[in-house]
Amino acid sequence: MKNQIENHKKEYIDQLIELLKIPSISADPKYKQDVKKTAHWIEKALIDIGCDQVEVFQTDGHPVVYGEKIIDSNAPTVLVYGHYDVQPPDPIELWDSPPFEPVIKETLIHPNGAIFARGACDDKGQMFMHIKAVELLINNNALTCNVKFIIEGEEEVGSDHLEQFITDHKVKLKSDIIIISDTGIHNMKNPAITTGLRGLSYMEVTVTGPNRDLHSGLYGGTVANPINTLCQMIASLHDHNKKVTIPGFYDQVQEISEEQRRGMNKNATPEEEFQKSIDIDASVGEKGYTTLERKSIRPTLDVNGIWGGYTGEGAKTVIPSKAHAKISMRLVPNQNWQDISKLFEKHFKSIAPEGACVKVTTHHGGDAYVTPEGHNAYRAAEKAYQEVFGVAPYAKRDGGSIPIVPMFEKILGCKTILMGFGLDSDAIHSPNEHYGIDNFLKGIETIPLFYKYFSELEKA
Ligand code: BES
Ligand code: MN
Ligand code: MN
Repeated sequence: MKNQIENHKKEYIDQLIELLKIPSISADPKYKQDVKKTAHWIEKALIDIGCDQVEVFQTDGHPVVYGEKIIDSNAPTVLVYGHYDVQPPDPIELWDSPPFEPVIKETLIHPNGAIFARGACDDKGQMFMHIKAVELLINNNALTCNVKFIIEGEEEVGSDHLEQFITDHKVKLKSDIIIISDTGIHNMKNPAITTGLRGLSYMEVTVTGPNRDLHSGLYGGTVANPINTLCQMIASLHDHNKKVTIPGFYDQVQEISEEQRRGMNKNATPEEEFQKSIDIDASVGEKGYTTLERKSIRPTLDVNGIWGGYTGEGAKTVIPSKAHAKISMRLVPNQNWQDISKLFEKHFKSIAPEGACVKVTTHHGGDAYVTPEGHNAYRAAEKAYQEVFGVAPYAKRDGGSIPIVPMFEKILGCKTILMGFGLDSDAIHSPNEHYGIDNFLKGIETIPLFYKYFSELEKA
């Protein structure tokens, strides 16, 4: 199959480029038609490779695309999940080439080229590998599993309507394992399989002071300035050890044994290399934990955006009436995102000083997930990576979130294996996002082997 991938390389890349040209930005209502257009593009791609029951399902949000290839009711069934929506490209001026006009460029890390475009790695490029891999299997008459595809358009905004969709289509989606390529490997020489995702709780806060913006000369010194207040409140959310100060925040956190911690730290990126990769001269985080632990097995709190007052050209002397911030928390196993959102709200309101009115709203969230390392599907993935990369992959817990994964388990009772091929340096969610051509092609090579080994192990 490797030869066939080499022969079809250009065609695969051209198709991906076509997909990357559609600006399927789920967060921005202006792009609703483009999101829909992308769903229909995927629909056609699934039909073209020979899938059946292909359908674009409308939801109360963006559409979900479904398709399947059932070969034998006794064969194991694999559900492939991916997302065709992308993050907004802002700040657009920091892109070296337009985000929806894909270009291939060589980089130090990707000497054989990488495709630069929003969604190249997260997740169009990775999702599309699965369509091409199944196409190869069908064409070679080598498909040994039933395959179902569920490709959604709202992952980047919290998968708000997907839960309802999977609840309504439980029977249709029934499968033995879910596989997702929406995470990363360590590097091209050392593949790693992601075995953990963090949860997320995303909040927005507003502090209101006076009922209108005030002249800062006439009123300055007499009222609580909402921006000053908000900054003080936010600053108090961490203590000097960089622990989150919300009462109860750590109560449910699953502690990891010393032995497990030693094991995971063996594969850590050297500290200098980490700092150099993002141009910082010191790592900062929760006391008592390594950088790797801080970004995988520990919960965190970060401000994602803050605004208020005058931010335009020049100067304006004003005490604003309101100040706002978006604050999110990454969660780990056993923390329940709804409970954490409530703890945050209660605490944040409780620390409001006199003269400030605080409003807290919850945007979206999801729980953490740990994949089953003993599952046949995990072993099949290990064997597949080992064969393609020539080295056995190690298990690594990741810091990002895919909120639908724990939902799949809750609603469908089905486990997930994360078979990602991206790199941390691929700049997902950032300007100049890209995806290595080799990563893309190696993914297309690895996935068919997964199917082969999974059906073998399930039969044994
Ligand atoms: N693919 C990412 C998640 C990811 C990336 C996990 C790399 C592990 C390694 C996904 O598209 C994403 O960005 N998820 C969001 C959550 C969502 C609710 C906006 C996230 O993690 O911020
Ligand atoms: Mn993603
Ligand atoms: Mn993403």
